[in-house]
Parts: sequence; C-alpha cells; structure tokens
Amino acid sequence: MKIAIDGPAGAGKSTIARIVAAELGCLYLDTGAMYRALTYEALRRRLDLSDEKALAALAAAMDLRLVPGRRGRAPRVYVGGREITRDIRSPEVSHRVSQVASHAKVREAMVRRQRAIASQGSVVMDGRDIGTTVLPEADLKIFLQASVKERAKRRSRELRRQGHKVRLRELVHQIAQRDEADSERAASPLTKAPDAVELDTTEMSVRQVVQTILELLNRGDGNV
Ligand code: DC
Repeated sequence: MKIAIDGPAGAGKSTIARIVAAELGCLYLDTGAMYRALTYEALRRRLDLSDEKALAALAAAMDLRLVPGRRGRAPRVYVGGREITRDIRSPEVSHRVSQVASHAKVREAMVRRQRAIASQGSVVMDGRDIGTTVLPEADLKIFLQASVKERAKRRSRELRRQGHKVRLRELVHQIAQRDEADSERAASPLTKAPDAVELDTTEMSVRQVVQTILELLNRGDGNV
C-alpha cells in the first residue's frame, strides 16, 4: 500500500503521516527531511546553491540514511554516518531549502531515491509532489491545508520544543514566502493531485485528521 500526503509547510504532514504509518505498521518517509539533509550538506560543503549540477550530483551520491524514530518520534537523519536530525531544522536550512529543491535535476535524483524506497514495501510518504510525481499510482492521496497563521503557530511550537528561538510574525512571513517558492517553481511545484482528497486541518485535532484518513482507507476512497 502506498499513501501520499502532500501540502504546504506546517500543515501537519509529518505528524499525521508518522501516526498513520504507525497505525498501519508501515514505513514513514519524510521527503522534506531528504531535501533538508541535502541543503545542510551543501551548506556545510560551501556549494553554490544555484549550481544545479553540483547539487544534483550530491543528491545522487550522498550517503543519506533516515532511521525510523522510536515510539512515534521523528525519524533520525544521518549523512555520512553523522547524525544531523536537529541541524536540518535550523532557520538557516529552512531558509535555503526551497532554493535547493527548485532545481529539476536535484528533484530527479531525489525522486529516484524515494521511488527505490517505496518499491521495498508499504509506505506513507509526505512532501509536496508525492501524489503528482513520486507516487502517481498511490492508493490514497491526501492534500493537507491549514491557514498560514495556524501553520506558523504549529511551526513555532515545534521549533521552541527543539530549542530554537522564533518570532511568530517572522514565521508567518517565512512560511508565506516558502509557500510561494514551492508553489511557483517550474519543476513539480506544490499542487494538489486531481485525485487527492483535500483536508483543511485548521480547526481539526491531530486525532481527527488521522481518523479521517483511516476511514478513507477503510471506505476504499482514493483508488484503494
Ligand atoms: O516539509 P518540509 O518543510 O520539511 O520541506 C522542506 C522543503 O523541501 C520545502 O520548502 C519544500 C521542499 N520539498 C519539496 O520540494 N518536495 C518534497 N517532496 C518535500 C519537500
């Protein structure tokens, strides 16, 4: 079974995808973490972030591992054996990742890696282009939405928990900017697949969203 969960930054994708995967006993793949890990590594190597060829080569070759987190925790991320789980959430990486993810060749390399992982078994994958590009044949496609303000509040809680200092107003601005960059890039922009089910989570609890997705699966909505 393949489940695609797409949507803008802070719509709740990773929280929801992680719980749905745990309930179904299948793998959870956070594709945003893959783009973040690439961005982190590119910054560390002082690569030029407009150098599509160099970034695509790094995306294809880097020793990237995502290890499922225990008891509903976020997956741990390693590059070259070094853990960078926390580093990939830094404001610097968040600020630069859209630029890295905008390159068509980078996306091709990432999509290849993501499909290889999906071919190993059942998976819940979250990102921006899962339903449209990575897994167009997914059994169920969900597009999560929420207001910019609500998404900024959620990101702020998440970042504070991780020890980062944040201002809500700045986050609203950054999220709106990232939405625009992710939606307007030429290479597989953030768009809802025509056969995706859209859920606005602004007023919904995590449990309600998970329950709705599990009901859609049970009812055989989507293509299941
Ligand atoms: O979900 P996130 O905020 O961790 O994603 C980080 C960035 O990566 C986001 O700005 C867009 C990009 N991304 C993408 O372009 N395609 C994906 N499948 C996942 C993320």
